[in-house]
Amino acid sequence: MSHKIQIAPDGPIFEARPDETILQAARRNGQILPYECGWGSCGTCKVGLVEGSVDLIFQDAPAVSPRDARRGRVLACQSRPTSDIIITPPPGHWEGLPLPCQECTGELIAVEELAPEIRRFTFRVEGGAEFLPGQYAILHLPGGIRRSYSMCNLPCGDTLQFIAKRYDGGAGSNALADLAVGTCITIEAPFGVCTLRKKAGRKVFVAGGTGISPILSMIRQAAEEAVDFNAPVDVIYGARSAVDLAAGNELAAAAARVRHARYTPVVEMPPEGWGYQQGFVTNAITALINAPTEAEFYVAGPPVMVNSVKAQLKEAGVPITQVHYDSFG
Ligand code: FES
Repeated sequence: MSHKIQIAPDGPIFEARPDETILQAARRNGQILPYECGWGSCGTCKVGLVEGSVDLIFQDAPAVSPRDARRGRVLACQSRPTSDIIITPPPGHWEGLPLPCQECTGELIAVEELAPEIRRFTFRVEGGAEFLPGQYAILHLPGGIRRSYSMCNLPCGDTLQFIAKRYDGGAGSNALADLAVGTCITIEAPFGVCTLRKKAGRKVFVAGGTGISPILSMIRQAAEEAVDFNAPVDVIYGARSAVDLAAGNELAAAAARVRHARYTPVVEMPPEGWGYQQGFVTNAITALINAPTEAEFYVAGPPVMVNSVKAQLKEAGVPITQVHYDSFG
């Protein structure tokens, strides 16, 4: 049964189809709701439930605290209305959405090994796949699992490519790794506002692990469109060891085509004779970026890495408006 969603106090009223989350319904109806991860880790989509009831899909979502539960705050991306509801938006930014989100069928057409347990998955999407470099998709995987992955390719008609790592015990990563070529799944895309701003000025791109996906896509865009930032551009890519720098050669090649860009790999366990940075991406930022407040940062990777970089930049006095990030669990 469908239900009505109203944005309080005098906002629009729109309809949620059965089984649709508040976020899905809002996006389908062209309503602007803030969101980032799409699966319950970032808390960006938190709304106040003023009236009505919802079903919580992910009861233990990391972004929901006991305080939120007491105050009636729910995640729009993880809540399905079970009655007509009224919601209040969270204070702060409500970003405009660059492209409407669509649900489509994607066929896995290729899997490529890039590094130990890290693969590139290529899906052909029925009806085309529009997105902006830096955005991500939600994949509906077997077992009712929904996970978000950023695209690593450039928008080019009907193809979406993702770089993903398989983790021991990771339900989502194993479900994706076990997909056979030829399998069709539902894909929702595009999501995310961590996209390339082309205005001139110092830029720093920081990728950790499979966070290379959105960074690679944005650097490819800058190369392809010959974007001239008219200032130094640093592209930092961190991993545990050199062999874990999946698609590092592709990132280096794309960066080499961007004016004023410098590519720096950084690994925790360097091989003998390693001529680049050693340690974490935060070490590389300290070593390479003299005046961080003058730069705009794009950061993508696991939450622990993204949070460390955000804390480092906050400490250095970089305004949060100059930090665009994509964090995934
Ligand atoms: Fe809903 Fe991140 S928790 S978008």
